[in-house]
Amino acid sequence: MKQRRALRKPINDDSVERVAPKRPYVLVTDAGHENPPFKRLDQPTGFLMDRISIRGGKILNGSIQISGAKNAALPLMIASLLTAKTLILRNVPRLADVNLLLRILRNHGVDMMVEGKRAKQDESVGETIHLSARSIVDTTAPYELVSRMRASFWVLGPLLARCSEAKVSLPGGCAIGTRPVDLHLMALEQLGANIEIEGGYVVARAPKGLRGNRIVFPKVSVGATHNALMASTLARGETIIENAAREPEISDVAECLNKMGARVSGIGSSTLQIQGVEELGGADHMVLADRIETGTYAMAAAITGGDVLLKGARADHLDAMLLALRQAGVKVEADGSGLRISRNGNRLYPINIETLPYPGFPTDLQAQLMALMTMADGVSTIRETIFENRFMHVQELARLGADIALAGDTAHVRGVDKLMGAQVMATDLRASVSLVIAGLAAEGETVLHRVYHLDRGFETLEAKLQACGASVERLTAG
Ligand code: EPZ
Repeated sequence: MKQRRALRKPINDDSVERVAPKRPYVLVTDAGHENPPFKRLDQPTGFLMDRISIRGGKILNGSIQISGAKNAALPLMIASLLTAKTLILRNVPRLADVNLLLRILRNHGVDMMVEGKRAKQDESVGETIHLSARSIVDTTAPYELVSRMRASFWVLGPLLARCSEAKVSLPGGCAIGTRPVDLHLMALEQLGANIEIEGGYVVARAPKGLRGNRIVFPKVSVGATHNALMASTLARGETIIENAAREPEISDVAECLNKMGARVSGIGSSTLQIQGVEELGGADHMVLADRIETGTYAMAAAITGGDVLLKGARADHLDAMLLALRQAGVKVEADGSGLRISRNGNRLYPINIETLPYPGFPTDLQAQLMALMTMADGVSTIRETIFENRFMHVQELARLGADIALAGDTAHVRGVDKLMGAQVMATDLRASVSLVIAGLAAEGETVLHRVYHLDRGFETLEAKLQACGASVERLTAG
């Protein structure tokens, strides 16, 4: 039976323990930025923040375990709102964004348990989290939480589908463009929701429940596809989503939903068909490997002329990026255990790419590729077609000596013989890691400020790079 609005607090069952977050975070003011950092409670708060120091020039050699994908883990966690049963997620990366989403879900009444370490457990494998939304105690997602992470807006569809109403603050997120939510709202309206904007909140109601429909997206949107997909699993009848995003993270969520009893077909294609069901059950699901983290370390290995095995990486999710690396003269070998990236002494060739929805070249790897191309032998052209403001790394790369000219949505990157270490500022998650990549190749010391951006999306970045010989160190604030 679909739940309306449960006023009771949820009762824990035996298998699920409600726990305090393992690493509690509090807000640290960061004036002028919409996605403020989180600080461990056991560390001093204030305006001082961690920095990362990189002494460039070390060639990366060794292996790196690829973590679970942040952009799959977040919607998978949100999918727990669709069922009263327990959803077990394995290989969840230890990230600030994951911790924040746990807080948001707890606010809706989700009980959670993080499995403790097991004997002989591989340290590099992510956490196993049990999520039980036995009853939803609050259908409001407040501004204070949603404004810090855009993906938390995706609770809208599942809450609406399960409780027939939801009130969710308009989102924040990395400052990489205007990032509207019109497509999310259009999709939910197509499913029968009545939507109003009140005081910065989206208020969605479907008193008679959602009903299946044909949703045609005029533009490909990852988040709107997630929202429509999750909501339609509990809608009456059939939903067809056309021009759906095809990112592997969407397929991962769809497969998990099917394990929970949903009836989604067309997974991996741009047309998803969903037969609504009355209710969903629990499931046990392993988060897929992070293709963006894979691509990031591939660029890091390539810029230093190293040889690194990316364990657990999925080459089949990275065709466009691997083609670009090969064109740049980087050796790429895929085998059962992952991907080996090497560039022993080969020169780097310039390349021309544009970012596109999957399976095109990912916008989330644009900044990292640009860092690599700063040292290519010639002029590369990089066009950003997804977000209009995703070139904030350009001026920071220039501080390291990169030669980049911007013309609208296109960056012309003229390779230089060497980069020189400098103080640089992280502006968003992927931009900040591009500065780490450049810093690995730069002469002398690079100090990256505002590293909380990195902590949102890269699990144990310093340790992974250090294990391959990089000289990378966190300078802790206070
Ligand atoms: C997801 O963001 C990712 N986030 C982003 O990763 C990624 O860059 C992006 O997809 C594109 O691949 C997560 O998965 C958590 P979109 P999302 O909706 O869903 C426009 C990272 O670094 N649009 O696919 O917010 C929008 O402005 C992050 O991990 C509308 O016009 O992106 C953009 O131009 C950053 N109306 C384009 O669509 C809408 O209602 C694609 O955005 C929604 C989107």
